[in-house]
Amino acid sequence: MAGSKINTIGVLTSGGDAPGMNAAIRAVTRKAINHGIRVFGIEKGYQGLLNGEMRELSAADVSDTIQQGGTILKTARSEEFKTEEGRQKGAQVLRDNGIEALVVIGGDGSYRGALELYKSAGYPVIGIPGTIDLDIACTEYTIGFDTAINTAMEAIDKVRDTSSSHERCSIIEVMGRKAGYIAMWCGIASGAEEILLPETYDFDEQKIINHITDIRKIGKTHFLIINAEGIGHSTSMARRIEAATGMETRATILGYMQRGGSPTCKDRFYASIMGAYAVDLLYEGKINRIVGYSKGDFTDFDIVEALEMQKSIPDYYVEISKDLVR
Ligand code: F6P
Repeated sequence: MAGSKINTIGVLTSGGDAPGMNAAIRAVTRKAINHGIRVFGIEKGYQGLLNGEMRELSAADVSDTIQQGGTILKTARSEEFKTEEGRQKGAQVLRDNGIEALVVIGGDGSYRGALELYKSAGYPVIGIPGTIDLDIACTEYTIGFDTAINTAMEAIDKVRDTSSSHERCSIIEVMGRKAGYIAMWCGIASGAEEILLPETYDFDEQKIINHITDIRKIGKTHFLIINAEGIGHSTSMARRIEAATGMETRATILGYMQRGGSPTCKDRFYASIMGAYAVDLLYEGKINRIVGYSKGDFTDFDIVEALEMQKSIPDYYVEISKDLVR
């Protein structure tokens, strides 16, 4: 495709929704139209693609969406698209509709779908990182993370007020099945005594119990544990901690509220730049790239290389999170 002018693109959102996805859809749509490229919004992710659920987007169709949470294109997880037949069918639907390249807004799993679309059907793709989990290795920022952590932090502050009044231990479970970035950021930002990350938690509750016992001896009257969804079991953990320490312990699972809400300024900004950048890549004839933010600037990576990259929560954050509590 490099060198030939592109006339029509598709855009979809896939996997868990993230605040700021609408800002990205808006940017893709408006930047494409500015370049004279038609845009089709594909509904309900790869599953909607397989069902041919799509509509052409005008500049006006994305008006008044930049401030909205969720995704106007809806999203889904598709088992059918994970199969070779599914991907061939997806590419055929796109071609039948005259769509020459696909912009995928989503997380790691969505990129794997895009990569397979390229590898098995030779179909051109571009990825934009949209996930509250911040767990895409090639980029330092993913759309939705800032809104999610601020939503979670506000909720944690509220639970903390009542926890402190009642001199209780609170376990607050935040999202992140495989990644602990939300837990780590919210834990440090809330001054949590314990932050349990799916990447490192050793399931040794006795250590937590000992920590509570020690800290109470020096006069601490309430205790905050941020637990990641990937570890879970917050309610039963609360029962066991209460039984072992004698300290009233309550679990609060924040759940999907963290994925909703109007995106923060940061999410709208990153989504706008990344969406426009994705279209510029296609306009320049570049395909099979992932848009990212690295070392202070927006950039892009080959999709195969991007998916081979690894990232982990720095040990230094873990060290600091322990240093700053007493
Ligand atoms: O990927 C975003 C995320 O919210 C994760 O933090 C969470 O583990 C997962 O999605 C939940 O997905 P579902 O919507 O399928 O329950």
